[in-house]
Amino acid sequence: MLITFEGIDGAGKSTQITRLVNHIMSQGVDVLSLREPGGTEAAEKIRTILLDNSHKISPIGELLLFSASRAELVQDVIKPALREGRTVILDRFFDSTTAYQGYGRGIDLELLQSIISFSTCGLIPDITFYLAIEPEEALKRKFAKSSIPLKFEGDELDRMERSGIDFYRNVQKGYQEIMRLNPERFVSINALESITVIHHHITKILRERLPS
Ligand code: ADP
Ligand code: TYD
Repeated sequence: MLITFEGIDGAGKSTQITRLVNHIMSQGVDVLSLREPGGTEAAEKIRTILLDNSHKISPIGELLLFSASRAELVQDVIKPALREGRTVILDRFFDSTTAYQGYGRGIDLELLQSIISFSTCGLIPDITFYLAIEPEEALKRKFAKSSIPLKFEGDELDRMERSGIDFYRNVQKGYQEIMRLNPERFVSINALESITVIHHHITKILRERLPS
């Protein structure tokens, strides 16, 4: 089973994934937790290039690098794990590419879709949790962690975080459109609730939807 988490930076994805992994493991179920971009030696190197703020990368270059990282992870790690019957939890998958590179950077959505299908070999998650939050709020959370002021500049920010608030508003609109088009796969969760309330909501939905 493949479970993915989506949402803008700072929405609370990794916090919830940590809680969910502990919960699943406590039930004696084997679970593999991964993040994108990254997850293999080559993919982690691509991650470093992508998030490094010291160089420019064009939108199409960015798309291809995210896709290259994903192709490595899908072929080397995710598909073999799913074949063994393991539960895989992913912090971001191809919906991030549609939201960030498609709606955020403005890359043609049809072109993007064919690159996504190619790089994932058509793999689609069983369920996707979207943590819904306004970009200002999410980025405040993220920057509060490292006490960076919300001004979208400074060496501490990665390349995506330097893109500005309008970029993140477009990403948010993108996610809303992706969810409208995939209602059966997506579960939207109010990310402003407390960490524990969100965690209970997620485990309840998983029990209802995926009883096994
Ligand atoms: P993401 O993985 O989506 O970037 P994180 O899980 O790293 O987000 O969370 C970003 C920050 O917000 C962290 O400091 C985390 O402790 C905090 N946080 C996460 N979930 C909540 C929540 N529901 N309410 C308040 N703060 C939260
Ligand atoms: P990361 O620190 O892992 O994410 P988060 O801030 O959510 O904890 O950084 C990954 C960044 O890359 C994040 O800004 C989202 C972006 N991204 C894309 O633009 N396209 C993609 O396909 C993926 C997987 C991530």
